[in-house]
Amino acid sequence: MKALILVGGFGTRLRPLTLSVPKPLVEFANKPMILHQIEALKAVGVTEVVLAINYQPEVMLNFLKEFEAKLGIKIICSQETEPLGTAGPLALARDKLIDDTGEPFFVLNSDVISEYPFAEMIEFHKAHGGEASIMVTKVDEPSKYGVVVTEESTGKVEKFVEKPKLFVGNKINAGIYLLNPAVLDRIELRPTSIEKEVFPKIALEGKLFAMVLPGFWMDIGQPRDYITGLRLYLDSLRKKSSLKLATGANIVGNVLVHESAQIGEGCLIGPDVAVGPGCVVESGVRLSRCTVMRGVRIKKHACISSSIIGWHSTVGQWARVENMTILGEDVHVCDEIYSNGGVVLPHKEIKSSILKPEIVM
Ligand code: GDD
Ligand code: MG
Repeated sequence: MKALILVGGFGTRLRPLTLSVPKPLVEFANKPMILHQIEALKAVGVTEVVLAINYQPEVMLNFLKEFEAKLGIKIICSQETEPLGTAGPLALARDKLIDDTGEPFFVLNSDVISEYPFAEMIEFHKAHGGEASIMVTKVDEPSKYGVVVTEESTGKVEKFVEKPKLFVGNKINAGIYLLNPAVLDRIELRPTSIEKEVFPKIALEGKLFAMVLPGFWMDIGQPRDYITGLRLYLDSLRKKSSLKLATGANIVGNVLVHESAQIGEGCLIGPDVAVGPGCVVESGVRLSRCTVMRGVRIKKHACISSSIIGWHSTVGQWARVENMTILGEDVHVCDEIYSNGGVVLPHKEIKSSILKPEIVM
């Protein structure tokens, strides 16, 4: 089977992290977002993944070359010369997606995390016999997403409305599709949206079916949702009694600590924390609801909560970093500084406190 991952977009909402790497390569739970997806695809027998890219293709490919061999999966690139939206890239990659088997293929948004129930989705798709299957999930704020109204008993989609202004329902498109090759005949090679132009038409013909996604789901394309997503992901690891979760007297709740990270004496780490490779967390540090990326140093008695600390940054001693502070790559927060929601661009030094949420350029 084949799969296409939509990797375009500039990842603006996840700046400053996406100033250093394309969004799909930003680590989530100590692994680039896109690898969570590729590994799950591989597990259900996908042998070839097409990356639909319109931005920094070299960076992506160089990075993924290494994993092609490690995972034993073919990863190819389909590059746009102009952004083609969420459907145009499928038309561009047409020849790469179709083969003699006539099998359906997966399409994924690159920024969604879940337990990826692909095997169940294949069963669902076979059973309804329609042209396309999409995963849906319930959310509190449906207006940020594509809302899907279905016939309860069959899952047949009656209506698909992208980012509705008025309330239509609370089941939304999870950005995970299984499509028959016939869907490609509906898409022209031009910038076009699968949500606005393709799905509503297939729904009208009664050939679009939605399956309610079991387990958790999150679009982690913005900082607040990224932090919530980590909590949900770690919860699901806990339910599976995963051995990946850290244990010890200084660990509270669900925590991931990379094997190469060092945690000092008297720290309190958790809940809902990921500490990346090579990090040094000095003594007496308190971390909760945060992600600390590769190579970060956190000095003595610093306290970090609800924040993301970008690669190779340092946080000074007794510093307090909280409330959706996002530090880009290689940021240095001096000793005793307070950051309340500072969004700091890469390579900056923070010498005075950030008292209210703002962007530091
Ligand atoms: N190749 C390519 N070219 N990819 C693109 C382009 C493009 O021009 N524009 C967007 N993408 C990719 C993004 O990288 C992302 O993986 C996916 O298409 C969806 O784009 P987002 O920008 O993340 O859309 P969204 O989050 O506002 O809404 C989408 O996702 C929701 C679920 O998270 C829609 O599919 C909604 O219907 C859905 O509910
Ligand atoms: Mg998104």
